[in-house]
Amino acid sequence: MTKRKILVTSALPYANGSIHLGHMVEHIQTDIWVRFQKLRGHECHYCCADDTHGTPIMLAAEKQGLTPEALIEKVHAEHLADFTGFHIGYDNYYSTHSPENKQFSEAIYLALKANGKIESRIINQLFDPEKQMFLPDRFVKGECPKCHAQDQYGDNCEVCGTTYAPTELIKPYSAVSGATPVLKESEHFFFKLGECADFLKEWTAGSTTLADGRVQPHLQPEALNKMKEWLHPDENGEGGLSDWDISRDAPYFGFEIPGAPGKYFYVWLDAPVGYMASFQNLCSRIGIDFNEYFKADSETEMYHFIGKDILYFHALFWPAMLKFSGHRAPTGVFAHGFLTVDGQKMSKSRGTFITARSYLDGGLNPEWMRYYIAAKLNSKIEDIDLNLQDFIARVNSDLVGKYVNIAARAAGFIHKRFDGCLKQVSDSPLLQQLAAHSENIAADYETREYAKALRDIMALADAVNEYVDANKPWELAKQEGADDQLHQVCSELINAFTMLTAYLAPVLPQVAANAARFLNIPAITWAHTQSTLGEHRINKYEHLMQRVEQKQVDDLIEANKQSIQAAETAPAASTYAPVTEQASFDDFMKIDIRVAKVLNCSAVEGSSKLLKFDLDFGFEQRVIFSGIAASYPNPAELNGKMVIAVANFAPRKMAKFGVSEGMILSAATQDGKLRLLDVHEGAQPGDKVG
Ligand code: MSP
Ligand code: ZN
Repeated sequence: MTKRKILVTSALPYANGSIHLGHMVEHIQTDIWVRFQKLRGHECHYCCADDTHGTPIMLAAEKQGLTPEALIEKVHAEHLADFTGFHIGYDNYYSTHSPENKQFSEAIYLALKANGKIESRIINQLFDPEKQMFLPDRFVKGECPKCHAQDQYGDNCEVCGTTYAPTELIKPYSAVSGATPVLKESEHFFFKLGECADFLKEWTAGSTTLADGRVQPHLQPEALNKMKEWLHPDENGEGGLSDWDISRDAPYFGFEIPGAPGKYFYVWLDAPVGYMASFQNLCSRIGIDFNEYFKADSETEMYHFIGKDILYFHALFWPAMLKFSGHRAPTGVFAHGFLTVDGQKMSKSRGTFITARSYLDGGLNPEWMRYYIAAKLNSKIEDIDLNLQDFIARVNSDLVGKYVNIAARAAGFIHKRFDGCLKQVSDSPLLQQLAAHSENIAADYETREYAKALRDIMALADAVNEYVDANKPWELAKQEGADDQLHQVCSELINAFTMLTAYLAPVLPQVAANAARFLNIPAITWAHTQSTLGEHRINKYEHLMQRVEQKQVDDLIEANKQSIQAAETAPAASTYAPVTEQASFDDFMKIDIRVAKVLNCSAVEGSSKLLKFDLDFGFEQRVIFSGIAASYPNPAELNGKMVIAVANFAPRKMAKFGVSEGMILSAATQDGKLRLLDVHEGAQPGDKVG
């Protein structure tokens, strides 16, 4: 077998938030793949880091009374402890705020510049005169130019879904200070991505032939389709590649651009370079040849595991940056979907925004979650759902009921009756059946079809349990003269358990390590999927895994609710929207506001923002779409409630979802939620508000 040389990364988590189960999906997916490659004997390096730069982190530090350096150091330790708690086995977990990253970011920028790919332009940007800083889109708020919803972000409206420039907002205000921003000119540097279109068309649709002859497409088919939209303008000239603004003005937490005092690299420039920096740092520690991996004609493999939301950066910007600075491009970008909990977006108020820390501190076994997530993952960009009841049922039935119990049932007899010694059982048909799946299951791990691999492995565990039931070792133990048969069956079972452990080892590294101790072997490797232990003495069995209890899961949800309440009661700097300019009574009377009753409220397929309301206005029934889905995860609970709505706006088409006949009023809270207005008892649908 040729030994492959592989560099693998997970996306770098931002250094201003806690690790949650959504992040865990990605790092578990990556870790399983890396462990599989290592078990197969390949040279595989897994690098990650915290993504430490940018305005949000700078402001978060300020809010906490810390320097950005102190904040990112604190968070780095927390992140690494969280990931390690879930047995994520990085070879290096580094930081983008590192000397290596500064050096590579500068070198790549200078190489792009030397290749004529950097251009300077004067742009107009919103500037906060109070805070004396340029405002990123997300830090400008105001009224949507299209639907006039209040307090929308500077890049898109959460109510009607329109995207626009922050300068198009009506009555904009700075979310940092509340001041009215002013337009100000500034010089920015652009990466001329438009000039990279030919390369990107070729690379995104292309593939690499690996040493073992397999053809590895650079992108998944769904990702390639997305890229085609972005790479090819439509008949209206929309879409297509635009040049990329890679600089930001001081004050900014990041790396200053060489030769441009006061200008900093935009965080998304130095973030992927952080992959290189983390790897370089590893190379110098353990003596790997960095250049062999990153030179333009490298024959090594490089894969990036990412979420679907950051495809654009990894499938366009990053390959272009690498290519036009004289480096290799990735061998593959593997995107996954988003985690939902019980069918809905993770929600802080419902306690389903589950942090990695709360899970570990709650005493839940991280390998339960590794197994459950793996059992849901495939190679597609599909969202995956954590169904909490299914989680309990699946882990208990598969891992405890089917797998761990095999060892528990056989080990006692081996110790009591045969002095801990296994018999040679290499010609057992059961074991041959298990071994025969080795290459298929390996192929499923290799192609990230983990759900399929685990289905096959559990089918093998079923076959082993049927064998137990057919041979009843507990009865053999009581039979006169059945010693040899008991020894045979129990030795087969311990060997079957060893094989299953090897199959599961990428997913359950801790169980595999504990099992190796019990089996009295140095370590489980992939070779154990196809070999037997022979005449061999094993150690005493110690229980390998407990069942999940319902209470543990209930407590986990409760803990995540509580941590949010704690955060909510903590005093926070408030950013009230400034009071808008004076309006006359006549202005007000132009708006016809009514009481309406919710006949039915439902989620809108294809929209994470909108809820659809069927409303009774007394004089007629109407449909209104409202962008409050994030604040009301259970739309049905609004059925029968009264709401307050504007009744005399012109009907408006909501993208592809239908026509909205008015606007439901809600209060925008300090923490970014929307709360519907209620009306005291006695008011009827159709009553005028004023
Ligand atoms: N810092 C950037 C990545 C830079 S990579 C050079 C970033 N950070 S993040 O913390 O917001 O997200 C890190 C990764 O977690 C991303 O791949 C993102 O898609 C993933 N996920 C965040 N929430 C998720 C879910 N709910 N479900 C699955 N993955 C999710 O983006
Ligand atoms: Zn709008």
